[in-house]
Order: sequence, then structure tokens, then C-alpha cells
Amino acid sequence: MAHQVTLIGGDGIGPEVAEATVRAVDATGVEIEWERVEAGARALDEQGQLIPDDVFTSLEVTRVGLKGPTATPIAGGHQSINVALRKKLGLYVNFRPVRMLPGIRSRFRDVPIDMAIFRENTEDLYSGLEHEVVPGVVESLKIITRNASTRIARAAFAYARRENRARVTAIHKANIMKMSDGLFLKCCRETASQFAEIRYDELIVDNACMQLVMRPEKFDVLVLPNLYGDIVSDLAAGLVGGLGIVPGANLGDHHAIFEAVHGTAPDIAGKGLANPTALMQSAVLMLAHLGERSAAARLQQAIEEVYADGGQLTGDVGGKASTAGFTDAVIARLRQN
Ligand code: NAI
Repeated sequence: MAHQVTLIGGDGIGPEVAEATVRAVDATGVEIEWERVEAGARALDEQGQLIPDDVFTSLEVTRVGLKGPTATPIAGGHQSINVALRKKLGLYVNFRPVRMLPGIRSRFRDVPIDMAIFRENTEDLYSGLEHEVVPGVVESLKIITRNASTRIARAAFAYARRENRARVTAIHKANIMKMSDGLFLKCCRETASQFAEIRYDELIVDNACMQLVMRPEKFDVLVLPNLYGDIVSDLAAGLVGGLGIVPGANLGDHHAIFEAVHGTAPDIAGKGLANPTALMQSAVLMLAHLGERSAAARLQQAIEEVYADGGQLTGDVGGKASTAGFTDAVIARLRQN
């Protein structure tokens, strides 16, 4: 039976990388009925709603989404669609595996980077609770709860156990934010005690950033509150070739939305230059989530072969190929294997 997946193209380069990814996934031979819906700035223009009702109606049925990036205005304007989707669907885990692909022209290319980032996805400073206390003074509330901290810690440790990972590192600033980050750490420690076979340690976020750049190969599984998770994931993406590469998954108890770490890249949108690797690698995670492990492995292998060959890479990773050229090369590899 075909799997049903909700496809949200999004804004900017979103529709370009989404269509490239659909072509690659379809070429694995897995039958997927794509339910195409729109969310984002374009949906607002065309349908008068940022997240039209059919997005939720579709996700209620399919429970799995593949999403391109959506634009969020800076300092004012509408709320982030991602934050709204994550809250409404209870997508409390943001999972970002960061791995070096063969042939990447990163200054870290010879370093065996392989880390799994678990970012809490629903609270912290992303709760959107900001107000003006008096003119010239604003306050932004950082919400940390036992419930959300424990469930992200459990997700990180459960993954470490399932994937035979050796170590989980919690990243925090509890030396300054003693209560909020202190509670996050307490929940991580309590969870660690239930996973005795996995080494657990802690790093203060500023030190963690320095060590990530100096010794990225030392990191294994990382668990972080929302804001540090956001920043550290982009830093980690930079180590392995940039935002065009790194995939992501937003996971809850009932729904999952797979999307790249990158944004709408307005500077290259509509030019056929975007690198679809990040969304394709997100689709690899999606195929595994759907139980299609062999197709997931084949798509991953095809992507890696195109990188190892190096002749059909996009501009952001030092090549000259278009989005379509790279995608054709991945599909050709899939057909050969
Ligand atoms: P961005 O990720 O869109 O772009 C940063 C730089 O990376 C740009 O130079 C861009 O050309 C390049 N880049 C990003 N993805 C690429 C790809 N696949 N291939 C080649 N080059 C790529 O970040 P920026 O400029 O901070 O954000 C633009 C918009 O995207 C904002 O409205 C922001 O809110 C939104 N955004 C949405 C996200 C989502 O929906 N998941 C995540 C991050 C940002």
C-alpha cells in the first residue's frame, strides 16, 4: 500500500528543493501519495492564511510531512510557521544528524564528524512571550519545564541506545541561568541514570562552541534546549559543508515533519541553483521512519556516490551543477544500484 505524505513546498527555494526531493524519493520505487499543500508567505498571499486549514487536515491523516523552508519576517510581522506547526502538532524533538559526506570541500574534510543533535523544540526563548515593561525596556520569557526537558533527554538517550552511540553531552548555561538551565540539566542527569551503559557529560554552551570547532570528531549525541540547539546546529552544519547539506526531523508522539536546517535562501531562489541535498537527506530519515529502510539506505548511498564523484555538485559546495543536474545524477545512481 502506498504511504501518504503531506508535502509543503514552502517559500523561496522551498518548492525547487521539494520537487527535486520528490523526484529522488519516487525513483527509489517506494510508492508515496504526495498530498500537496501550501504554508508560508505564498499561502498568505494566495489563500489569506499562513497555515491554511488543509495543512492540519492533511497532517491529521498522513501524520508524516516533508517540508520546504518558510519565510519568517524579522522583528515584527507574523509568527514563525515552524514554531506554530511544532507547537500545534507536539513535535517536541528536533533531530539533526551532522555527518561529513565524501568529497566535501570543507576545511574539516578529513575529520570523521558524525554527531546527532537533539534540540528541544517547543519552549525556551521560542515561546514567543515578549512584552514591553516600560518604554525602552522589553522582557522575553525563557520557559523551561521538567516535562519538555525530560522528554528531549529521553529521546536523545533512547537514540543513543538504539544506534549504539557511546556518549550523550548536555549543553547548557546553568552557571548563569541557574534555575532554568539548572532544571534542564537536572532532567538530563535523571534520565542519564536510567541509561547506565551510555556515558553522560555536560558542557557550557560557549565552551561547547569552541570545542565543536577545535575537536568536532569528539562529539557524539548532543542534547540542548531550543535556542542553543538552533545556534549549535548551524555551527555544526558549517563544519560539514554548510546549510545545503544537513537534514532534520521534527518528531512528536503522533506526527513527524522532515525538513532541512536551511531557510528560504532568497538570494538564490528561482534560479535553479539551490542544493537539494539537505531535503533529500531529510527524506532519507523520512523513508526510515516509514519503515522503508532499504530505500532509505539506497537513497543515502546514491547521494554519497554523487558527492564522492564530485562532477555534479551545486555551487554552495564548490560545483557548477544546477538543482536539476544534481538530482538527475542522484536518480541515475539509484537506477544503477
Ligand atoms: P538561509 O538558510 O535561507 O540562507 C543562508 C545562506 O545559505 C544564504 O546565502 C543561502 O543562499 C545559503 N543556502 C541556504 N540553503 C541553501 C541551499 N539549499 N543551497 C544553497 N545555498 C543555500 O538563512 P536566512 O537568510 O537567515 O533566512 C532566510 C529566510 O528563511 C528567513 O525568512 C528565515 O526566517 C527563514 N528560515 C526558515 C527556516 C525553515 O523554514 N525551516 C529555517 C531557517 C530560516
